[in-house]
Amino acid sequence: MRFMADQLDIGVGLGHGLRLRGPVMVASGTFGYGFDAPLVDRSALGAIVTKGTTPRPRAGNAPTRIAETPSGMLNAIGLQNPGVEHVAREYAPIWASWEVPVIVNVAGDAIQDYVEVARRLDGVAGVAGLELNISCPNVVNGLQFGLDPRLAAELTMAVRRATELPLIVKLTPNVTDIVAVGRAVEAAGADAVSAINTYVGMAIDVRRRRPMLSRGSGGVSGPAIKPMALQAVWQLAAELSIPVIGIGGITTPSDALEFLLAGAVAVQLGTVNYLRPESTREVLDGIAQYMHQHRFNNLRALPIRGVRAMAHA
Ligand SMILES: Cc1cc2nc3c(=O)[nH]c(=O)nc-3n(C[C@H](O)[C@H](O)[C@H](O)COP(=O)(O)O)c2cc1C
Repeated sequence: MRFMADQLDIGVGLGHGLRLRGPVMVASGTFGYGFDAPLVDRSALGAIVTKGTTPRPRAGNAPTRIAETPSGMLNAIGLQNPGVEHVAREYAPIWASWEVPVIVNVAGDAIQDYVEVARRLDGVAGVAGLELNISCPNVVNGLQFGLDPRLAAELTMAVRRATELPLIVKLTPNVTDIVAVGRAVEAAGADAVSAINTYVGMAIDVRRRRPMLSRGSGGVSGPAIKPMALQAVWQLAAELSIPVIGIGGITTPSDALEFLLAGAVAVQLGTVNYLRPESTREVLDGIAQYMHQHRFNNLRALPIRGVRAMAHA
């Protein structure tokens, strides 16, 4: 099917001047730094979100770092990345020549780590925004910020002061009340939130009598988490005024549309990139086709009316 972008307004605003030409992004950790997927049609992407980046290079966890689970996968990569200096010097100049905006996912063990990365990337050509990973279950201290609304707000505020870049905060589902964390980061100056990161989980190899992953537990992603992710997005969209980006188990246009109908302004595709890298193009085309068929001429018209009231029902 031909993409009908010309007839439709599928642009998305994520705040702080960050505008995407379309609502389909690739999720952090499943697309490297944008260089490893030569077969992917970058023109289908609204934005690329990079692997989590820390102040200094990290080797990540020892193997085994991934395992397949029913309708999904487990990973405990442990934030393997080349460090912010390498990203700023070697990668950003290349991104500056791309049409698609690149958003750098930021991680760390302490507030100072996030601030350091944000400061280094502030004003660097080729970096369109930051996504703060306050929700990584696969490193020591990775989850701590995302579990506590007060800490999440403190971190967001500190990064906000360190950079003029658009700021997305990525939330963890491993909490009792994701909306409380969303509200806290909104009040602290986040321009948007993305939801969700992976669920903590594990698998055991019964033959060898040991966990599948070297670290024991890891993060569950893929279609298995979609219903929970969708409900988190539905609640967040009802409660927050800033844009919500939906993530979790999206593999088809219909999956993506569910998130957009629930109130997400854009979606990120993660695990599916490993299986079918052409999915991003198919999802974008499918959204355009749906809008055309149902006579929506812009994405803002998609969310189910009364999301707010229904989320409280
Ligand atoms: C192998 C792998 C590595 C990931 N690395 C990161 C990361 O560095 N930072 C981050 O915020 N999320 C990371 N994620 C989480 C994804 O960005 C996404 O939130 C999650 O996988 C749910 O989406 P999905 O079901 O479409 O994969 C990673 C996921 C996978 C599968």
